[in-house]
Amino acid sequence: MSEQVRVLIPEEELMERIARMGAQISRDFQGESVHLVCILKGSVFFTCELAKHITVPVTIDFMCVSSYGRSTVSSGVLEIKQELTEPIDGRNVIIIEDIIDTGRTLKYLLEDLAKRGPKTLRLCTMLDKPDRRVMQVDTDYTGFEIPDEFVVGYGLDYDQRYRNLPYVGILSLD
Ligand code: IMP
Ligand code: MG
Repeated sequence: MSEQVRVLIPEEELMERIARMGAQISRDFQGESVHLVCILKGSVFFTCELAKHITVPVTIDFMCVSSYGRSTVSSGVLEIKQELTEPIDGRNVIIIEDIIDTGRTLKYLLEDLAKRGPKTLRLCTMLDKPDRRVMQVDTDYTGFEIPDEFVVGYGLDYDQRYRNLPYVGILSLD
């Protein structure tokens, strides 16, 4: 079986869009500071590039989570594999995610972080696959809406590989 990656979003387009997202966040938080919560591992590349384009003071923390949403049970469970290193109460928290697919992970994560008393809580995602949504999640900043395809690159993996590609591509297995 061979794996092939076809470019969906070229590097230049990603860079241009991320720069504009950074500028937008800087405008929205003029005179304030922002605390970026990077969701490991997929969002690392996006978080670093985005942070370079934010002109208000930035702090960064990391969290690793996964969700167990069962179709027969209405409420899902958020498994925190790696916890934040600092409290978020009173801060302007922006969750930085690589991709929103079913929306489960983000729905449970938003509920969890909201209970910790942030001043504001926003969600920023590089990619969104709206066709796949099972749980409704409102995003504040979205890089690109993409079709229902399995994508890799710029942080996104298939079996932990391809994260280092500088572009986002569609993976096909032949
Ligand atoms: P959700 O809870 O279904 O929204 O899951 C989101 C998570 O699934 C993302 O953070 C990714 O880790 C993973 N994921 C969803 N779609 C893709 C994809 O196309 N490529 C790689 N990972 C994906
Ligand atoms: Mg992920």
